[in-house]
Amino acid sequence: MDSSAIERRTGASEHCVEDSDSVIRDCIVHMEGVSRLYRSGTAAIYGLSAIDLSIKRGEFVALTGPSGCGKSTLLSIMGLLDHATSGCFLLNGRDATTLGYSERARIRNEEIGFVFQAFNLIPHMTVYQNVELPLSYRKAISGKERRERIQQALARVGLYGRDSDYPSQISGGEQQRVAIARALAGFPSLLLADEPTGNLDSQSGASIMRLFEELHSNGATVCIATHDAKHASTAQRRVALLDGRSVT
Ligand SMILES: Nc1ncnc2c1ncn2[C@@H]1O[C@H](COP(=O)(O)OP(=O)(O)O)[C@@H](O)[C@H]1O
Ligand SMILES: [Mg+2]
Repeated sequence: MDSSAIERRTGASEHCVEDSDSVIRDCIVHMEGVSRLYRSGTAAIYGLSAIDLSIKRGEFVALTGPSGCGKSTLLSIMGLLDHATSGCFLLNGRDATTLGYSERARIRNEEIGFVFQAFNLIPHMTVYQNVELPLSYRKAISGKERRERIQQALARVGLYGRDSDYPSQISGGEQQRVAIARALAGFPSLLLADEPTGNLDSQSGASIMRLFEELHSNGATVCIATHDAKHASTAQRRVALLDGRSVT
């Protein structure tokens, strides 16, 4: 077993209070003392250091701070794309530090919607097929329900009727809308977005932020990372990071 796996086992969940407290149960995300240590040879660097953060159902939170402060690391841990090396992390009241590989994959698919700066659409698939892809792994969802969810998600982001376009045929702002539709179609309990306007011109960026605001006012729980103060001000609450630590 490598040293990070040992660290993970010995440190990560030692003080989690799974489901014991109703305040914590109301939180989609509950983190206490979450750290992420990166090792490279003999060097070690903390991408995150002792973060405490709770996100309640229905909140809209912006993670802010300069490049390298840990925003992506924190979002990746929240979205189960990465893991904490120590600390407590409850996702929907469940200890996320003890989940196995396939359970993490299932939760990522069913409970998390992740939107990336570079959209991450599959270029040889149409808009419809891109939104469909994560749903196609969910055997419990019938073909009829899948089609309804895709149309509903595309309508939600203002792209109804654009099913058969390919990513190269639509603008950057529209591509990001497809990525958001792909995230929404899974009915996630948590929508995460890492610098979602970073590849867009200012007008398209502002329109994507308005879409997140709308989704939030319709009940979605949203957490975005941005180094743009104007976009961060759209959120209900800001959490500022510096050198892997929370400074708010
Ligand atoms: N895979 C990695 N290996 C080593 N260091 C990393 C890795 N990923 C991120 N880091 C470091 O962790 C810190 C936080 O990075 P990141 O979360 O990407 O910041 P941000 O998203 O705010 O720009 C930085 O110092 C970065 O160099
Ligand atoms: Mg980043």
